[in-house]
Amino acid sequence: MTKFTINGSAGISEIMVGESFKNFREYLPGGQTVIITDENVNKIYSRFFNDFPTIIIGSGEKIKTLATVNNIYSQLMKLLADRSTFIVGIGGGIVCDVAGFVASTYLRGIRFGFVPTTLLAQVDASVGGKNGVNYKGFKNIIGTFNQPEFVICDTEVLHSLPGIELSNGFAEIVKHTLIADDTMFSYLENSFEKALNLDNEVISKLVAHSIRIKSGIVNRDEKESGERRLLNFGHTFGHAIEKISGISHGQAVSLGMVIAARLSQNLGYLSFEETERIKNLLLHLKLPVKGDFNHEKLIKAILKDKKRTAERIALILLTKIGEAKVEDILIDELRKMLTPTKD
Ligand SMILES: NC(=O)c1ccc[n+]([C@@H]2O[C@H](COP(=O)([O-])OP(=O)(O)OC[C@H]3O[C@@H](n4cnc5c(N)ncnc54)[C@H](O)[C@@H]3O)[C@@H](O)[C@H]2O)c1
Ligand SMILES: [Zn+2]
Repeated sequence: MTKFTINGSAGISEIMVGESFKNFREYLPGGQTVIITDENVNKIYSRFFNDFPTIIIGSGEKIKTLATVNNIYSQLMKLLADRSTFIVGIGGGIVCDVAGFVASTYLRGIRFGFVPTTLLAQVDASVGGKNGVNYKGFKNIIGTFNQPEFVICDTEVLHSLPGIELSNGFAEIVKHTLIADDTMFSYLENSFEKALNLDNEVISKLVAHSIRIKSGIVNRDEKESGERRLLNFGHTFGHAIEKISGISHGQAVSLGMVIAARLSQNLGYLSFEETERIKNLLLHLKLPVKGDFNHEKLIKAILKDKKRTAERIALILLTKIGEAKVEDILIDELRKMLTPTKD
């Protein structure tokens, strides 16, 4: 088992890679525990937690709303949940984001932990203490920073994931290598087949490595005033693409990373060869590199992005594979660069 610790302002988060799902009960403090999960995860894995009261939410980005949160609050009240109640979110990024938000706000905050069951949730959504829901069509704009007490990443559960969900997780793994570690990028280039086949050694190494990168950044900048912004690489475009096209988060982030890499190349930071390596790796991991979306709509969606200020937008660019920086780009310049090219 590999362990990582995040020392958050609201508490310490212990992240364990290689611990078994069924052992989550060993980390509970005693007293009442309530599980929050989604319908799909409940169908496959309820045997691990069916002795606990369980709140089951639907699935899909559309249920990541205050209405779902409301419904959970009601169920918690019916269960007489009090300040000693512990919540465990078991599921993908949506369950973790919603469960973390509920636990952080119910009775001004009760204790919680996660068993992330998608690759994306293991390497990204369950790590770092951001939680929340979408509001009026905007992603994740209602939420808190608050650390789960434990995060149990059992790579065995990834075997039941549909292939597309696996790829979604690989998009975030690629992101972590691109902003912080060229050696790991090369490792992924050489081991993508084993990774896709969930070879235990390779996938465990990739999950642990991604968490090492993300938790390291979060430890240095929990509230995203500096370095943590680098984790948004590919996400300004990704969120906009997700919104206008309805494709999944990971797929949209893959397209967003290609656009950001191309911009980095146009600005002279990244070589053509490096951009090609990035595209090839994404393709190998069954991720899209070319989207069929309307560029005008994309620009409009980006302009609504919460990170925009006046005429400029802060973008994360790559200076090389394994190194990123934040740069303010003129929106007019961005518009020019986003004009579709033939490749
Ligand atoms: N808080 C953060 O820092 C952070 C970071 C990245 C992403 N996110 C959020 O995460 C969300 C996406 O998460 P996701 O990709 O995990 O999506 P998801 O939670 O929708 O899960 C994807 C699908 O897989 C199913 N599933 C989950 N585990 C399974 C398993 N083991 N076997 C079979 N099916 C399983 C789910 O029911 C769902 O249908 C987005 O809302 C995004 O905003 C948050
Ligand atoms: Zn993401």
